[in-house]
Parts: sequence; C-alpha cells; structure tokens
Amino acid sequence: MSLNTLEEIAAYIVSEGKGILAADESNPTCGKRFDSIGVESTENNRRDYREMLFRSKGMKGNIGGVILFDETIRQNAKDGTPLINIIEDQGALPGIKVDKGLQPIGDSEETVTVGLEGLDERLKEYAAMGAKFTKWRAVIKIGDGIPSQECIDANMKALADYAKLVQDNGMVPMVEPEVLMDGGHSIDDCYEATERSLQSLFTHLIANEVNIKGTILKPNMVTSGSTAEKQAGVQEVAEKTVDCLLKNVPASLPGITFLSGGQSDIHATAHLDAMNKLGGLLWKVSFSYGRALQAAALKAWKGKPENMFISQDALSHRALMNKLASQGEWDSSLEDQ
Ligand code: 13P
Repeated sequence: MSLNTLEEIAAYIVSEGKGILAADESNPTCGKRFDSIGVESTENNRRDYREMLFRSKGMKGNIGGVILFDETIRQNAKDGTPLINIIEDQGALPGIKVDKGLQPIGDSEETVTVGLEGLDERLKEYAAMGAKFTKWRAVIKIGDGIPSQECIDANMKALADYAKLVQDNGMVPMVEPEVLMDGGHSIDDCYEATERSLQSLFTHLIANEVNIKGTILKPNMVTSGSTAEKQAGVQEVAEKTVDCLLKNVPASLPGITFLSGGQSDIHATAHLDAMNKLGGLLWKVSFSYGRALQAAALKAWKGKPENMFISQDALSHRALMNKLASQGEWDSSLEDQ
C-alpha cells in the first residue's frame, strides 16, 4: 500500500464502507472484558485473543484500520510474525492509542485527558514502527450542571494540541470527543453536550492549523442516556445525530467513524445504517467500534483455542454487517443468516 499523504491515509481507512476495529483497550479494561468470560488477563492471553481477531477472514475488505494499545503494537504472533504485519496483510492500517487516560479536574467529577508530555518522542517511535494513525479520547459527562464549558474547552484544546503534533509526525489523528451515554438524561441533553463539544473541538483544531482533510472524527452518536426511561428509537437517533454533525462538522473532514459507547451490537449497526440511508452526508460515515465489534467474538472465544473459528466468524460477521451499514445497505434480516 503506498499512501503518501495524510489525506490519502484518512481516505483509505474509510474507503468503500470500511471502518475501524478498536482493539486498544488498556490492560485494566482488557482485564474487565476477560473477567466477563473467566479468562485471566495475561500478556500472552491478550496477544492470543488479538492475534485471533486480526487473522479473522472478515477483516479483509471490511476493516480499514485497527487501533492498538502500546503493548500490542510491540507484540509478535505465536509464530513470530509481528501483529502489525498481520493487520497490514489484511489490508488494514495499524493505528495507536496515544493518550494517557483521564485526570480529575480539581475535585469535580469531570476529567481532562492527559498525555501531551513526552508525546512528540512517543509519536516518533510509533511512526517508525509503522503506525499510520493515532487516537486520543476525551470524555465528557452529562449530569447536574455538567458538562461545564471549562471541561469541554480543556479537553478540546488538548485534542487540538495532540492532533497538530500527530500531523507534524506524518500520521492521521483521530479525534475522539466522547459524550458518555451513562445516566438518565434525554436525547436532547446529549445533542446539546455533543454540539458544544464539536463546536469547541473545531474552533481549537482550526486555531492550531490542523489539516482537517487529514483528520478523522470519532464521535458518540446522539442517543438517550443509558438509564433514561424514554429511549429514542433508531430513526430519531439517526436524524438527531446527522443533524448535529451537519451543523457542527466541516465538509472538508474525510470521515466520521463512530464509537459504540455501550450500545448493543445490533443498535450500533442499525443506527449507522439509518444514518447512511438518510443520505445528504458530507463525509464518509462509518464505524470505529470496540465492544460492538468484539462482544460476540469475545463471548464465543472463552479463552479456548478450539473456539477460534466460531469466534473469528462472529467478528467477521459484525465487520461485514457494519460495512454494509456504512453504505446504507444493512437489513435486520441479514442478522439471522
Ligand atoms: P467502544 O466502541 O467500545 O465504545 O470503543 C471504542 C473506543 O475506542 C473507545 O475509545
């Protein structure tokens, strides 16, 4: 693959309905996922699980990029092949999560994502290892009197500083301003928090002279809070998400790849499909799912080598369903096959 410019890299990742497999769970998060299937989170188990995912047949043609954690980008498969090479052989570009997690803002319940210190050196190392894109996740919570503008602006400024450094190192930054689903808030509260975050994000990106054509946005969808009594339906989620994005995201952005954020597999696919069926979108609208791509594969695996093929089939199926959804060509009947 010869992709020379940031624009070419970004366009490739989301070409022909392809999306991103987020496999960048930190070790503690991976531990939680493994706990749910009774598997110990050792370095080798994490490697075996991810090697299995990356070798799945359905990676090819459906997945354009894989986000890795620091440990994984350095790992070799059981037979000694670097995991990065397996990803590339599947036609996907390796990416790397580079933020260092969340720090509380004062004694509030809000957080700011940290990791700018020493970032330039880390980026140089990752670029030399073959990473083509990066991810930084900012977290915005909805609650009583929050999100505060202070929290939004501090997080979006950090995202813009990160994005500029990444581009200076020849990689495509994914900017992820995640408004959490946690809570009993309404879909309109989510719309408002998402809009404020996107406005602040693009103001800071433009002030930092970040090349928008060489950037990928990884936002949340506009949904009801996970514990809200009234849950918005698929069509309302699609319409409000697209409306919010059309009003707040420049047309020059090549791709929007959503996070799944705790939605079920099927909801994450159905919402994406409904958005692409609406039409009138200015960018490629695709997926960068962690849980919504992996949940079924993880459950099928259970840490047992003999479950490898059914687990890979589960990942391949979700990858294909989401590729179809990115083209507005999914149908719920395809899930029964
Ligand atoms: P989920 O799709 O599980 O939300 O994960 C995506 C991700 O990379 C969060 O940063």
